[in-house]
Amino acid sequence: MVNPLAFAGARFLVTGASSGIGKSTAILIAKLGGRVTAVGRDTLRLAETLAELAGEGHDASAFDLADADAIPGWMAACAATGTYSGVAHCAGIQELKPLRQVTADFIDRTMRTNLSSALAIARGFRQKDVAQRPASLVLVSSAAGLTGQAGNTVYAASKGALIAAARGMAIELVRDEIRVNTVAPGFVPTPLGEKAMRFWSKEQLDATRAAYPLGFGTAEDVANAIVFLLSDMARWITGTTLAVDGGYTAQ
Ligand SMILES: NC(=O)c1ccc[n+]([C@@H]2O[C@H](COP(=O)([O-])OP(=O)(O)OC[C@H]3O[C@@H](n4cnc5c(N)ncnc54)[C@H](OP(=O)(O)O)[C@@H]3O)[C@@H](O)[C@H]2O)c1
Repeated sequence: MVNPLAFAGARFLVTGASSGIGKSTAILIAKLGGRVTAVGRDTLRLAETLAELAGEGHDASAFDLADADAIPGWMAACAATGTYSGVAHCAGIQELKPLRQVTADFIDRTMRTNLSSALAIARGFRQKDVAQRPASLVLVSSAAGLTGQAGNTVYAASKGALIAAARGMAIELVRDEIRVNTVAPGFVPTPLGEKAMRFWSKEQLDATRAAYPLGFGTAEDVANAIVFLLSDMARWITGTTLAVDGGYTAQ
């Protein structure tokens, strides 16, 4: 029987691979036999990720994804050593700020890293000799893009825009044989999640926990969903958003 989760021989670009959800995704892809290009800015943490990957043929590329216009050229350079069957775009930033502290610079920084990077990655992926077609692009959005949360408006806007953009990209990239989907995780205690958690009072933490019917998840739970969407098991799925949130947005 063919195992659609067997990634042997396939290569995947994983952004945000130096930490949290991206790192767990890279580890899972490698366990399934895939080869990973691990992306982030921190070379030391990327080396730590590489050391944890099973199998051979992995590499790392330190790159600042806020430089969106440089992304297609950088992706072409990465693909010079082999095309990619999938891209998991997990890199992202979140800074909580009440509206009264929101500035144009802050909006620009958040949108650049969370949204512009994704659009540029899609542009880069469809270039000749970058994608191994049929291919899959998975973008990590957030439950925050589907719900309202005080102090999280700009991040939510960037993640909601990602969901809308993925639908357009999915239709536009059909002819390039690239599926495009998003996952929308709820709270996960990664370094990003824990930073947000430090802003919560004990009451807020208890209330948030109570809002998760299945409790808080892990980076591995999100990686499972990303890998599913990357795989041939999802060959008939494009333009959708998969909530991975323990039931948080179901209520
Ligand atoms: N944790 C949660 O509760 C949660 C919930 C919903 C959605 N998400 C989303 O899930 C994704 C992963 O988050 P996480 O929780 O795993 O966070 P994390 O542990 O803080 O990891 C974020 C990753 O993004 C990379 N990154 C950030 N800015 C970058 C840039 N300009 N260029 C290249 N890489 C950059 C970081 O790498 P370097 O530091 O090496 O640059 C790091 O590997 C994010 O998109 C986040 O918005 C997280």
